[in-house]
Amino acid sequence: ENTLHAAAQQSGRYFGTAIAAQKLGDSTYTSIANREFGMITAENEMKIDALQPNQGQFNFSNGDRVYNWAVQNGKRVRGHTLAWHSQQPEWMRNLRGSSLRQAMINHINGVMAHYKGKIYAWDVVNEAFADGNSGGRRDSNLQQTGNDWIEVAFRTARAADPAAKLCYNDYNIDNWNWAKTQAVYNMVRDFKQRGVPIDCVGLQSHFNSNSPYNSNYRTTIQSFAALGVDVQITELDIQGGSATTYANVVNDCLAVSRCTGITVWGVRDSDSWLGASATALLFDGNGNKKAAYNSVLNALNSA
Ligand code: G3I
Repeated sequence: ENTLHAAAQQSGRYFGTAIAAQKLGDSTYTSIANREFGMITAENEMKIDALQPNQGQFNFSNGDRVYNWAVQNGKRVRGHTLAWHSQQPEWMRNLRGSSLRQAMINHINGVMAHYKGKIYAWDVVNEAFADGNSGGRRDSNLQQTGNDWIEVAFRTARAADPAAKLCYNDYNIDNWNWAKTQAVYNMVRDFKQRGVPIDCVGLQSHFNSNSPYNSNYRTTIQSFAALGVDVQITELDIQGGSATTYANVVNDCLAVSRCTGITVWGVRDSDSWLGASATALLFDGNGNKKAAYNSVLNALNSA
């Protein structure tokens, strides 16, 4: 096959990208995105601040622009993200305790009702664990509502849209030896043991010199999968754009049947949240395929 998604589909997987609504008028951008990718994540447009700018008033206009572009072009959509400490609207940032807990539940219900039956997988909870070696939760207004906030979010989400896969999504949980990885692993194991609804773990996979790709990534994927959840690589980018590292990441996913898809976090280097100089993606600023693109395509085609 000669496009990423078609190549991934040979083994039943998808290959996706993040899309920004304000770039949908850029024909270089949309033609690459339409040609190469089969799963779309809104880079910012389905976050809490975007969808509920004022309490109780939902605004789906930009989320729907991304959703409609995807579906009109035959693609599926990952939802990102329902409960997160970051990109909360001002009103939510100021809430604490039971009113914040209720606001989180109302947000999940409101958003999932709008997109009911339309989303392949939701990142229900994003980035809830602390960086570093503590193995603990990140301190946030949501965490301060009680340690059970994550499972409440997942139970609410299951009831709101039983058709969507429900994912926990985080960064720096790629290296099996890291405390943060183990902490998330222990939470997922506990959820599976107690019947808290969770279907997937999203490994964001933002690789850079501080959190480089490590060959134990495959162990991480295998270990989560062995708990009975799917694993999705949800926000892949590699600072410097090493073709070898890209191939390693793809091959590690392909080695585990429950690793069901890969999403890169943007189309061209110039679209990356890291800036064009990070050269972290698969296409250069002119939309040309990079060496990393060829290496990903070859890996997918050799599966
Ligand atoms: O749209 C406004 C614009 O109107 C304003 O003039 C400008 C001035 O700062 O800001 C624009 O919004 C920015 C937005 O991206 C759209 O470009 C925000 O400031 C900026 O904070 C926001 O950054 C996003 C970041 O999440 C915020 O947390 C990145 O695009 C997005 O790629 C990034 O994605 C996250 C995932 O959601 C979670 N995992 C990590 C990943 C990378 O940080």
